[in-house]
Amino acid sequence: MASQLNTAVIVGSLRKESFSLKLARALTALAPPSLQLDVVTLNGLSLYNQDLDATPPADWVDFRDRVRKADAVLFVTPEYNRSVPGVLKNAIDVGSRPYGQSVFNGKPGGVISNSPGALGGFGANHHLRQSLVFLNVSVLQQPEAYIGGIGDAFDEKGELVKTSLREFLEAYIKTFAAWVARHQQ
Ligand SMILES: Cc1cc2nc3c(=O)[nH]c(=O)nc-3n(C[C@H](O)[C@H](O)[C@H](O)COP(=O)(O)O)c2cc1C
Repeated sequence: MASQLNTAVIVGSLRKESFSLKLARALTALAPPSLQLDVVTLNGLSLYNQDLDATPPADWVDFRDRVRKADAVLFVTPEYNRSVPGVLKNAIDVGSRPYGQSVFNGKPGGVISNSPGALGGFGANHHLRQSLVFLNVSVLQQPEAYIGGIGDAFDEKGELVKTSLREFLEAYIKTFAAWVARHQQ
């Protein structure tokens, strides 16, 4: 059997009841056996400050190690004011430095945005892609994942109950697994 590949799933919300976090957890159950998902939350990640590059806080080191050891990165994020939430932008900045030592460099990646609204976080999704071009992350292009109407997707226990979304996520993560595998060659 081919060895299992590992993906860091970076969640762009700190909220306990975050839909993005629930989506990330749902994906772990839907991923094919060839792909293991490590859900990375950003609670406690210190703000990036270039003065600390020589003596990085332990939480930066942990975050960078988790992403560095992964074969791929998958971002699951809400949209804040038509862009990327500050905590996620901060994580990208932390992972990208010191200059020349970005933990994202060369990895395959994916972006899933979501919203209770109809547009599914399109603005955040594409602002994030702008940073990922510079960080040399090869982002899966199709299917695009702008998940609108997320508000009725989960029950009170956090279980995914929206069948159409389950089917979409299953197809997405299968395609993503193939994308990640392709980049190992
Ligand atoms: C500061 C802030 C800005 C927001 N801006 C947007 C926005 O631009 N577009 C959108 O669809 N939803 C926006 N929302 C609503 C979020 O989509 C909603 O709160 C969502 O549940 C947050 O994601 P989470 O459930 O993963 O925490 C905003 C929410 C906050 C708190």
